[in-house]
Amino acid sequence: MDVIRIEGGSFLQGRITAGGAKNSVLPIFAACLLTEDECVIRNVPDLSDVRYMGKILEHVGASVADEGDGVWRIRAAEVRPEAPYELVRKMRASICLLGALVGRLGEARVSMPGGCVIGPRPIDLHMKGLRKLSCQVEVEAGYLRVDGHSRRGGDVFLGGRYGSTVTGTANLVMAAVRTPGKTRIECAACEPEIVDLCTLLQEMGALIEGVGSPTLVIHGVDSLKGVDHSVIPDRIETGTYLIAGALAGSGLEVVGAPPSLLGAFTDKMEEVGVGLEFNQGVWTVHSAADRNPVDLITLPHPGFPTDLQAQMCTLLAITPGISVLTERVYPNRFMHVPELQRMGADLAIEGASCIVKGRKSLSGAPVMASDLRASAALVLAGLVATGETWIQRVYHLDRGYQCMDAKLRAVGARIERLPDSEMPKHLLGEDN
Ligand code: EPZ
Repeated sequence: MDVIRIEGGSFLQGRITAGGAKNSVLPIFAACLLTEDECVIRNVPDLSDVRYMGKILEHVGASVADEGDGVWRIRAAEVRPEAPYELVRKMRASICLLGALVGRLGEARVSMPGGCVIGPRPIDLHMKGLRKLSCQVEVEAGYLRVDGHSRRGGDVFLGGRYGSTVTGTANLVMAAVRTPGKTRIECAACEPEIVDLCTLLQEMGALIEGVGSPTLVIHGVDSLKGVDHSVIPDRIETGTYLIAGALAGSGLEVVGAPPSLLGAFTDKMEEVGVGLEFNQGVWTVHSAADRNPVDLITLPHPGFPTDLQAQMCTLLAITPGISVLTERVYPNRFMHVPELQRMGADLAIEGASCIVKGRKSLSGAPVMASDLRASAALVLAGLVATGETWIQRVYHLDRGYQCMDAKLRAVGARIERLPDSEMPKHLLGEDN
């Protein structure tokens, strides 16, 4: 396993380019099962989660080729209905195979995904949605067994106690596009990644109205055709590097998601006092010396994205005053907090909120990565901390950030990735 070593204090200058959106690619790969034709997907980032999804597609019978330069060719001439536990448990997003298998085959046997570090990851809404399409849905020995041979369109309210569900919406849309009749989904997720998926499905011949709105109306079709589709830029990776520029940059440029995909984020950054400009596809971020504390609440899109909460926590940890971060999507998504505290951040968790008392600086320390966004928050902290920060378990980072160390080094960060054997023994985290 590798570790990342960062010497804090360098200024970031130059241009970083974000890749394609991980959370678009995963359901889009699954959607390729809905046709026997070849699909070409472009602007695919080189991430462990993406490679893993490719392996799962191969397991269910598709031929999958990574042609390099972000181009993947997927052809699902034959498809098997089963996605086993040993594959699904390693990446819960593979649950979005469910809807594609039901849409293609009329049946699916997919392992229940289980939870992860950011909290329980229920799929009750996924199951509710399929049942509303008259599918039989049973949980048996840890597997979801779906019989959708007599499925037909139906009306579904897909909201749960935390609002809409992203992969739940993806699953239901992928089942409904090849389900006879009309399906109406209320409280559908409006995330840009869902818009990207629906756009791809429309390019394949699906009939979907209301794309981008909380109400989708889908008229099922018998078959879908192949597609050549380029994935949207990753708004979370873009936001992560904009925060890096706010922390340590002087005119850092970021190429990635446009303002239309980052509204709540750029609005909050403006409130903090960070100058952001977007010109001809390029962001320029000015580190703001005098920043303001803010209250931030994560919400489903178009609200502030939960996937940028940890990274904002790092920025606010060295912003004067008291900020409050409240998680309305994953109430326990604070794995970054104890690690940032090791670096001197003054944070206190109160239920689903984190109270942040801004400090003048952070100090480098050995820390442990956990979920991929918490890991990114630790890298950002290392950039501005005094001294040396060692981050263990960086494989979490590889799930959602392609070559993050190399991208940051290219704009002046003193950051390197090393085998964990090179980490000074006295700094190794205790295995508890
Ligand atoms: C997607 O996860 C993203 N992953 C997550 O990004 C992201 O944090 C999340 O949406 C919220 O934006 C992918 O797209 C692959 P949800 P998903 O279903 O679909 C509850 C990252 O860092 N819920 O929208 O699994 C759930 O517990 C990852 O890139 C139910 O109660 O999230 C949560 O509190 C992490 N019942 C809330 O809804 C259900 O059936 C939102 O979950 C489903 C969800």
